[in-house]
Amino acid sequence: MNRQNKIIQHSATADPHAPFPLRSQSHQLFRSLAPLFIWLVSAAYCLADNDVTNFVPSNPPAMTAITSHHTQAYRAAKWFMRGANLGDYLEVPPGQGWRVTVSANDFVEIAAQGFDHVRVPVGWQHYVGPAPDFQLSPMIFSRVDFAVTNALKNHLAVLINIHHFDEMDDDPTNATPEFLAIWRQIAAHYQKFPSELAFELDNEPHQNATTALMNPIYALTIAEIRRSNPRRTIFVEPGDWGNIDGLKDLVLPPDQNVIVSVHCYDPFYFTHQGATWAGPDTRVTGIHFPGPPATPLTPAPSLNLNPWVTHWIQRYNSLPTDQNPSSPIAFEGELKYVRAWSDYYGRPIHLGEFGCFTTADQKSRANFYRAFRLACQQEHIGWAIWDWNANFRYWDEQDGRPLPGMHEALFGK
Ligand code: BGC
Repeated sequence: MNRQNKIIQHSATADPHAPFPLRSQSHQLFRSLAPLFIWLVSAAYCLADNDVTNFVPSNPPAMTAITSHHTQAYRAAKWFMRGANLGDYLEVPPGQGWRVTVSANDFVEIAAQGFDHVRVPVGWQHYVGPAPDFQLSPMIFSRVDFAVTNALKNHLAVLINIHHFDEMDDDPTNATPEFLAIWRQIAAHYQKFPSELAFELDNEPHQNATTALMNPIYALTIAEIRRSNPRRTIFVEPGDWGNIDGLKDLVLPPDQNVIVSVHCYDPFYFTHQGATWAGPDTRVTGIHFPGPPATPLTPAPSLNLNPWVTHWIQRYNSLPTDQNPSSPIAFEGELKYVRAWSDYYGRPIHLGEFGCFTTADQKSRANFYRAFRLACQQEHIGWAIWDWNANFRYWDEQDGRPLPGMHEALFGK
Protein backbone atom coordinates (compact mmCIF):
# COMPACT_ATOMS: atom_id res chain seq x y z
CA MET A 1 0.00 0.00 0.00
CA ASN A 2 1.48 3.31 -0.87
CA ARG A 3 1.71 6.27 1.44
CA GLN A 4 -1.23 8.17 -0.04
CA ASN A 5 -3.49 5.17 0.42
CA LYS A 6 -2.45 4.90 4.00
CA ILE A 7 -3.48 8.47 4.61
CA ILE A 8 -6.76 7.96 2.83
CA GLN A 9 -7.35 4.77 4.70
CA HIS A 10 -6.58 6.59 7.93
CA SER A 11 -9.26 9.15 7.22
CA ALA A 12 -11.57 6.66 5.59
CA THR A 13 -11.55 4.28 8.55
CA ALA A 14 -12.87 7.44 10.17
CA ASP A 15 -11.50 6.55 13.54
CA PRO A 16 -7.77 7.04 13.67
CA HIS A 17 -7.90 7.07 17.44
CA ALA A 18 -10.05 4.02 17.88
CA PRO A 19 -7.37 2.32 20.00
CA PHE A 20 -7.75 5.04 22.60
CA PRO A 21 -11.35 4.75 23.81
CA LEU A 22 -10.67 6.46 27.13
CA ARG A 23 -8.90 9.25 25.38
CA SER A 24 -11.77 9.66 22.96
CA GLN A 25 -14.38 9.89 25.69
CA SER A 26 -12.73 12.48 27.85
CA HIS A 27 -11.21 14.20 24.84
CA GLN A 28 -14.70 14.54 23.54
CA LEU A 29 -16.00 15.75 26.89
CA PHE A 30 -13.24 18.28 27.37
CA ARG A 31 -13.37 19.47 23.81
CA SER A 32 -17.17 19.70 23.86
CA LEU A 33 -16.80 21.98 26.83
CA ALA A 34 -14.23 24.06 25.00
CA PRO A 35 -16.78 26.63 23.71
CA LEU A 36 -18.03 27.18 27.27
CA PHE A 37 -14.47 27.69 28.42
CA ILE A 38 -13.78 30.11 25.57
CA TRP A 39 -16.92 32.03 26.47
CA LEU A 40 -15.85 32.28 30.12
CA VAL A 41 -12.35 33.40 29.16
CA SER A 42 -13.72 35.94 26.67
CA ALA A 43 -16.16 37.25 29.28
CA ALA A 44 -13.28 37.61 31.73
CA TYR A 45 -11.31 39.54 29.13
CA CYS A 46 -14.23 41.80 28.33
CA LEU A 47 -14.61 42.55 32.02
CA ALA A 48 -10.92 43.27 32.27
CA ASP A 49 -11.19 45.38 29.13
CA ASN A 50 -8.76 43.00 27.45
CA ASP A 51 -6.05 44.32 29.72
CA VAL A 52 -3.80 41.46 30.75
CA THR A 53 -1.58 43.87 32.60
CA ASN A 54 -4.30 43.18 35.19
CA PHE A 55 -3.01 39.60 35.29
CA VAL A 56 -3.51 38.21 38.77
CA PRO A 57 -1.20 35.27 39.53
CA SER A 58 -3.19 32.46 41.08
CA ASN A 59 -0.93 29.41 40.99
CA PRO A 60 -0.30 27.60 44.27
CA PRO A 61 2.30 29.50 46.35
CA ALA A 62 4.81 26.68 45.79
CA MET A 63 5.07 27.82 42.15
CA THR A 64 7.73 30.45 42.44
CA ALA A 65 8.36 32.97 39.70
CA ILE A 66 11.79 33.05 38.03
CA THR A 67 12.54 36.73 37.83
CA SER A 68 15.31 36.61 35.24
CA HIS A 69 14.26 36.23 31.65
CA HIS A 70 17.84 35.51 30.65
CA THR A 71 17.72 31.84 31.57
CA GLN A 72 18.74 28.91 29.38
CA ALA A 73 15.02 28.20 28.84
CA TYR A 74 14.53 31.63 27.24
CA ARG A 75 17.60 31.12 25.05
CA ALA A 76 16.37 27.67 23.99
CA ALA A 77 12.82 28.96 23.32
CA LYS A 78 14.30 30.93 20.40
CA TRP A 79 15.11 27.65 18.63
CA PHE A 80 11.48 26.55 18.89
CA MET A 81 9.58 29.39 17.22
CA ARG A 82 8.12 27.88 14.00
CA GLY A 83 7.60 24.15 14.10
CA ALA A 84 5.80 21.21 12.56
CA ASN A 85 4.55 18.13 14.36
CA LEU A 86 5.42 14.83 12.74
CA GLY A 87 1.97 13.57 13.71
CA ASP A 88 0.57 10.06 13.12
CA TYR A 89 4.11 8.73 12.84
CA LEU A 90 6.17 7.32 15.72
CA GLU A 91 3.35 7.53 18.25
CA VAL A 92 1.21 5.08 16.26
CA PRO A 93 1.15 1.69 18.04
CA PRO A 94 2.85 -1.15 16.16
CA GLY A 95 0.63 -2.97 13.71
CA GLN A 96 -1.87 -0.16 13.18
CA GLY A 97 -2.57 1.13 9.71
CA TRP A 98 -2.59 4.88 10.26
CA ARG A 99 1.14 5.54 10.41
CA VAL A 100 2.45 7.94 7.80
CA THR A 101 5.88 7.62 6.24
CA VAL A 102 8.52 10.24 6.89
CA SER A 103 11.65 10.15 4.74
CA ALA A 104 14.99 11.91 5.03
CA ASN A 105 13.77 14.24 2.32
CA ASP A 106 10.86 15.39 4.49
CA PHE A 107 13.37 17.00 6.86
CA VAL A 108 15.03 18.77 3.92
CA GLU A 109 11.61 20.10 2.84
CA ILE A 110 10.60 21.08 6.38
CA ALA A 111 13.74 23.20 6.73
CA ALA A 112 13.40 24.60 3.20
CA GLN A 113 9.84 25.73 3.98
CA GLY A 114 11.12 27.90 6.84
CA PHE A 115 10.31 25.81 9.90
CA ASP A 116 12.98 25.92 12.59
CA HIS A 117 11.98 22.82 14.56
CA VAL A 118 10.04 19.58 14.53
CA ARG A 119 8.09 18.01 17.35
CA VAL A 120 8.25 14.24 17.21
CA PRO A 121 5.51 12.45 19.17
CA VAL A 122 6.75 8.99 20.23
CA GLY A 123 4.86 6.01 21.68
CA TRP A 124 7.82 4.64 23.69
CA GLN A 125 5.41 2.79 25.99
CA HIS A 126 4.64 0.32 23.17
CA TYR A 127 8.25 -0.85 23.13
CA VAL A 128 9.05 -1.59 26.78
CA GLY A 129 9.99 -4.92 28.33
CA PRO A 130 8.65 -6.14 31.67
CA ALA A 131 8.83 -4.30 35.02
CA PRO A 132 10.87 -3.28 36.87
CA ASP A 133 13.35 -2.37 34.09
CA PHE A 134 10.86 -1.53 31.34
CA GLN A 135 13.72 -1.92 28.92
CA LEU A 136 13.14 -0.08 25.65
CA SER A 137 13.68 -2.02 22.45
CA PRO A 138 16.57 -0.93 20.19
CA MET A 139 14.01 -0.72 17.35
CA ILE A 140 12.27 2.33 18.77
CA PHE A 141 15.58 4.03 19.45
CA SER A 142 16.67 3.48 15.87
CA ARG A 143 13.43 5.03 14.55
CA VAL A 144 13.68 8.04 16.84
CA ASP A 145 17.40 8.37 16.04
CA PHE A 146 16.47 8.58 12.38
CA ALA A 147 14.12 11.49 13.04
CA VAL A 148 16.43 13.26 15.48
CA THR A 149 19.58 12.98 13.37
CA ASN A 150 17.83 14.04 10.18
CA ALA A 151 16.30 17.03 11.93
CA LEU A 152 19.63 18.13 13.40
CA LYS A 153 21.40 17.54 10.09
CA ASN A 154 18.97 20.04 8.52
CA HIS A 155 19.52 22.57 11.32
CA LEU A 156 16.12 21.93 12.81
CA ALA A 157 15.78 21.85 16.58
CA VAL A 158 13.86 18.78 17.69
CA LEU A 159 11.49 17.98 20.49
CA ILE A 160 10.73 14.36 21.40
CA ASN A 161 8.03 13.34 23.85
CA ILE A 162 5.97 10.47 25.25
CA HIS A 163 2.67 10.53 23.36
CA HIS A 164 -0.67 8.86 24.14
CA PHE A 165 0.61 7.10 27.26
CA ASP A 166 -2.85 5.90 28.30
CA GLU A 167 -1.69 4.08 31.45
CA MET A 168 -0.43 7.40 32.76
CA ASP A 169 -3.81 9.03 32.18
CA ASP A 170 -5.66 6.12 33.81
CA ASP A 171 -3.50 5.75 36.86
CA PRO A 172 -0.60 8.17 37.09
CA THR A 173 0.71 6.89 40.41
CA ASN A 174 0.95 3.30 39.23
CA ALA A 175 2.43 4.28 35.88
CA THR A 176 5.13 6.51 37.39
CA PRO A 177 7.83 3.79 37.71
CA GLU A 178 7.43 3.01 34.01
CA PHE A 179 7.37 6.71 33.10
CA LEU A 180 10.58 7.30 35.05
CA ALA A 181 12.26 4.20 33.60
CA ILE A 182 11.43 5.33 30.06
CA TRP A 183 12.83 8.79 30.68
CA ARG A 184 15.94 7.41 32.38
CA GLN A 185 16.71 5.39 29.23
CA ILE A 186 15.88 8.19 26.79
CA ALA A 187 18.02 10.59 28.79
CA ALA A 188 20.97 8.18 28.84
CA HIS A 189 20.67 7.47 25.13
CA TYR A 190 20.61 11.14 24.08
CA GLN A 191 22.96 12.43 26.77
CA LYS A 192 25.65 13.47 24.27
CA PHE A 193 23.30 14.94 21.68
CA PRO A 194 23.39 18.68 20.93
CA SER A 195 21.35 21.11 23.01
CA GLU A 196 18.92 21.61 20.11
CA LEU A 197 17.35 18.29 21.09
CA ALA A 198 14.77 18.83 23.85
CA PHE A 199 12.56 16.45 25.84
CA GLU A 200 8.83 16.95 26.45
CA LEU A 201 7.75 14.82 29.38
CA ASP A 202 4.14 13.86 28.58
CA ASN A 203 1.77 14.82 25.78
CA GLU A 204 -1.64 16.10 26.85
CA PRO A 205 -2.02 14.56 30.30
CA HIS A 206 -5.73 14.20 31.03
CA GLN A 207 -8.36 12.20 32.88
CA ASN A 208 -6.70 11.18 36.19
CA ALA A 209 -3.41 12.80 35.18
CA THR A 210 -4.48 16.19 36.48
CA THR A 211 -2.00 19.03 36.66
CA ALA A 212 -1.97 18.73 40.47
CA LEU A 213 -1.09 15.04 40.25
CA MET A 214 1.46 15.54 37.50
CA ASN A 215 3.35 18.33 39.32
CA PRO A 216 5.28 16.00 41.68
CA ILE A 217 5.73 13.41 38.92
CA TYR A 218 7.23 16.11 36.68
CA ALA A 219 9.56 17.20 39.51
CA LEU A 220 10.77 13.61 39.99
CA THR A 221 11.26 13.12 36.26
CA ILE A 222 13.15 16.39 35.82
CA ALA A 223 15.44 15.38 38.71
CA GLU A 224 15.98 11.98 37.05
CA ILE A 225 16.82 13.54 33.68
CA ARG A 226 19.12 16.10 35.28
CA ARG A 227 21.39 13.28 36.56
CA SER A 228 22.52 12.54 33.01
CA ASN A 229 21.47 15.71 31.15
CA PRO A 230 22.15 18.70 33.40
CA ARG A 231 21.68 21.15 30.55
CA ARG A 232 18.95 19.59 28.42
CA THR A 233 15.85 21.75 27.74
CA ILE A 234 12.74 20.09 29.15
CA PHE A 235 9.15 20.91 28.16
CA VAL A 236 6.16 20.22 30.40
CA GLU A 237 2.42 20.41 29.70
CA PRO A 238 -0.44 21.06 32.09
CA GLY A 239 -3.34 18.60 32.41
CA ASP A 240 -6.70 18.75 30.64
CA TRP A 241 -4.99 17.94 27.33
CA GLY A 242 -2.36 20.65 27.70
CA ASN A 243 -5.13 23.15 28.07
CA ILE A 244 -4.24 26.79 28.69
CA ASP A 245 -6.55 26.87 31.68
CA GLY A 246 -4.30 24.26 33.34
CA LEU A 247 -1.42 26.74 33.60
CA LYS A 248 -2.84 28.12 36.83
CA ASP A 249 -2.37 24.76 38.58
CA LEU A 250 1.24 24.16 37.60
CA VAL A 251 3.90 23.92 40.29
CA LEU A 252 7.34 23.61 38.72
CA PRO A 253 10.74 23.22 40.32
CA PRO A 254 12.93 26.33 40.04
CA ASP A 255 14.87 24.67 37.19
CA GLN A 256 16.21 27.31 34.77
CA ASN A 257 15.77 25.20 31.66
CA VAL A 258 12.08 24.29 31.59
CA ILE A 259 9.69 25.51 28.90
CA VAL A 260 5.95 25.13 29.37
CA SER A 261 3.91 23.81 26.47
CA VAL A 262 0.17 24.25 25.85
CA HIS A 263 -2.16 23.12 23.06
CA CYS A 264 -5.04 25.05 21.53
CA TYR A 265 -7.51 23.84 18.89
CA ASP A 266 -9.96 26.72 19.14
CA PRO A 267 -12.38 27.33 17.51
CA PHE A 268 -12.90 23.62 17.97
CA TYR A 269 -16.04 23.15 15.84
CA PHE A 270 -14.15 24.74 12.97
CA THR A 271 -10.78 22.98 13.44
CA HIS A 272 -12.26 19.54 14.12
CA GLN A 273 -15.20 19.57 11.70
CA GLY A 274 -15.71 16.03 10.46
CA ALA A 275 -13.16 14.57 12.92
CA THR A 276 -15.10 11.50 13.99
CA TRP A 277 -12.73 10.67 16.85
CA ALA A 278 -13.60 13.99 18.48
CA GLY A 279 -17.20 13.02 19.19
CA PRO A 280 -20.70 13.93 17.97
CA ASP A 281 -20.27 17.69 18.32
CA THR A 282 -17.92 17.84 15.37
CA ARG A 283 -20.31 16.35 12.80
CA VAL A 284 -21.18 19.67 11.17
CA THR A 285 -18.95 20.32 8.17
CA GLY A 286 -18.76 23.26 5.78
CA ILE A 287 -17.78 25.74 8.52
CA HIS A 288 -15.62 28.57 7.20
CA PHE A 289 -13.01 30.72 8.88
CA PRO A 290 -13.67 33.45 9.54
CA GLY A 291 -17.46 33.60 9.86
CA PRO A 292 -20.09 34.65 9.10
CA PRO A 293 -20.63 32.64 5.89
CA ALA A 294 -22.12 34.32 2.80
CA THR A 295 -25.00 31.82 2.94
CA PRO A 296 -26.08 30.64 6.41
CA LEU A 297 -25.16 27.07 7.21
CA THR A 298 -28.17 24.81 7.87
CA PRO A 299 -27.06 21.51 9.40
CA ALA A 300 -29.15 18.48 8.44
CA PRO A 301 -31.73 17.67 11.16
CA SER A 302 -30.51 14.06 11.04
CA LEU A 303 -27.29 15.23 12.74
CA ASN A 304 -29.28 15.59 15.94
CA LEU A 305 -27.08 18.34 17.28
CA ASN A 306 -26.66 19.23 20.91
CA PRO A 307 -28.20 22.62 21.75
CA TRP A 308 -24.83 24.24 22.40
CA VAL A 309 -23.67 23.30 18.89
CA THR A 310 -26.86 24.70 17.37
CA HIS A 311 -26.33 27.90 19.35
CA TRP A 312 -22.73 28.11 18.14
CA ILE A 313 -23.87 27.69 14.52
CA GLN A 314 -26.49 30.42 14.96
CA ARG A 315 -23.83 32.80 16.24
CA TYR A 316 -21.49 31.71 13.45
CA ASN A 317 -24.22 32.42 10.87
CA SER A 318 -25.18 35.81 12.22
CA LEU A 319 -22.42 37.64 14.08
CA PRO A 320 -19.98 40.00 12.36
CA THR A 321 -16.41 38.72 12.12
CA ASP A 322 -15.13 40.68 15.10
CA GLN A 323 -17.67 38.88 17.32
CA ASN A 324 -17.96 35.63 15.40
CA PRO A 325 -17.09 32.38 17.22
CA SER A 326 -15.28 31.17 14.09
CA SER A 327 -12.75 33.98 14.09
CA PRO A 328 -9.51 34.98 15.81
CA ILE A 329 -11.42 36.01 18.95
CA ALA A 330 -11.60 32.28 19.68
CA PHE A 331 -7.88 32.25 20.56
CA GLU A 332 -6.50 35.79 20.78
CA GLY A 333 -7.59 36.36 24.39
CA GLU A 334 -6.25 32.96 25.44
CA LEU A 335 -2.87 33.71 23.88
CA LYS A 336 -2.70 37.06 25.67
CA TYR A 337 -3.31 35.25 28.95
CA VAL A 338 -0.57 32.73 28.07
CA ARG A 339 1.86 35.56 27.50
CA ALA A 340 0.95 37.29 30.75
CA TRP A 341 1.28 34.04 32.72
CA SER A 342 4.61 33.31 31.07
CA ASP A 343 6.01 36.77 31.77
CA TYR A 344 4.94 36.67 35.39
CA TYR A 345 6.26 33.19 36.18
CA GLY A 346 9.42 33.53 34.09
CA ARG A 347 8.75 30.36 32.06
CA PRO A 348 8.77 30.65 28.26
CA ILE A 349 5.76 29.05 26.61
CA HIS A 350 5.51 26.97 23.48
CA LEU A 351 2.21 26.41 21.67
CA GLY A 352 2.96 22.78 20.89
CA GLU A 353 -0.14 21.94 18.83
CA PHE A 354 -2.67 23.93 16.86
CA GLY A 355 -4.22 23.06 13.54
CA CYS A 356 -7.21 22.24 11.43
CA PHE A 357 -8.43 18.96 9.95
CA THR A 358 -8.34 18.73 6.16
CA THR A 359 -12.16 18.44 6.01
CA ALA A 360 -12.35 22.24 6.26
CA ASP A 361 -12.10 24.06 2.93
CA GLN A 362 -8.57 24.95 1.96
CA LYS A 363 -9.06 28.70 1.96
CA SER A 364 -10.51 28.68 5.47
CA ARG A 365 -7.70 26.44 6.68
CA ALA A 366 -5.11 28.84 5.31
CA ASN A 367 -6.97 31.81 6.85
CA PHE A 368 -7.02 30.02 10.18
CA TYR A 369 -3.33 29.02 10.18
CA ARG A 370 -2.39 32.57 9.23
CA ALA A 371 -4.51 34.18 11.95
CA PHE A 372 -3.28 31.78 14.62
CA ARG A 373 0.35 32.19 13.61
CA LEU A 374 -0.01 35.99 13.67
CA ALA A 375 -1.62 35.88 17.13
CA CYS A 376 1.30 33.76 18.44
CA GLN A 377 3.77 36.11 16.80
CA GLN A 378 2.06 39.07 18.43
CA GLU A 379 2.59 37.47 21.86
CA HIS A 380 6.12 36.19 21.02
CA ILE A 381 5.03 32.59 21.49
CA GLY A 382 6.75 29.81 19.52
CA TRP A 383 4.35 27.40 17.81
CA ALA A 384 4.19 24.00 16.12
CA ILE A 385 1.45 23.14 13.66
CA TRP A 386 -0.40 19.85 13.84
CA ASP A 387 0.75 18.44 11.47
CA TRP A 388 3.32 17.97 8.71
CA ASN A 389 1.89 15.25 6.43
CA ALA A 390 -1.02 13.45 8.11
CA ASN A 391 -4.68 14.33 8.67
CA PHE A 392 -4.11 18.01 9.46
CA ARG A 393 -1.39 18.31 6.89
CA TYR A 394 0.64 21.19 5.60
CA TRP A 395 2.54 19.16 3.04
CA ASP A 396 0.98 17.64 -0.05
CA GLU A 397 3.03 14.51 -0.46
CA GLN A 398 1.71 13.70 -3.93
CA ASP A 399 2.55 17.09 -5.42
CA GLY A 400 5.70 17.58 -3.35
CA ARG A 401 4.64 21.04 -2.14
CA PRO A 402 2.58 22.70 0.57
CA LEU A 403 -1.20 22.65 0.24
CA PRO A 404 -2.41 25.85 -1.43
CA GLY A 405 -2.04 28.94 0.74
CA MET A 406 -0.29 27.17 3.60
CA HIS A 407 3.22 28.49 3.05
CA GLU A 408 1.98 32.08 2.79
CA ALA A 409 -0.21 31.53 5.87
CA LEU A 410 2.70 30.48 8.04
CA PHE A 411 5.61 32.39 6.58
CA GLY A 412 4.06 35.32 4.71
CA LYS A 413 3.97 38.82 6.06
C1 BGC B 1 -3.37 14.12 18.91
C2 BGC B 1 -3.61 13.73 17.50
C3 BGC B 1 -4.86 14.40 16.95
C4 BGC B 1 -4.76 15.88 17.16
C5 BGC B 1 -5.99 16.59 16.70
C6 BGC B 1 -3.39 15.58 19.00
O1 BGC B 1 -3.28 15.94 20.33
O2 BGC B 1 -2.18 13.61 19.39
O3 BGC B 1 -3.67 12.36 17.45
O4 BGC B 1 -5.01 14.13 15.59
O5 BGC B 1 -4.60 16.13 18.52
O6 BGC B 1 -7.13 16.14 17.36
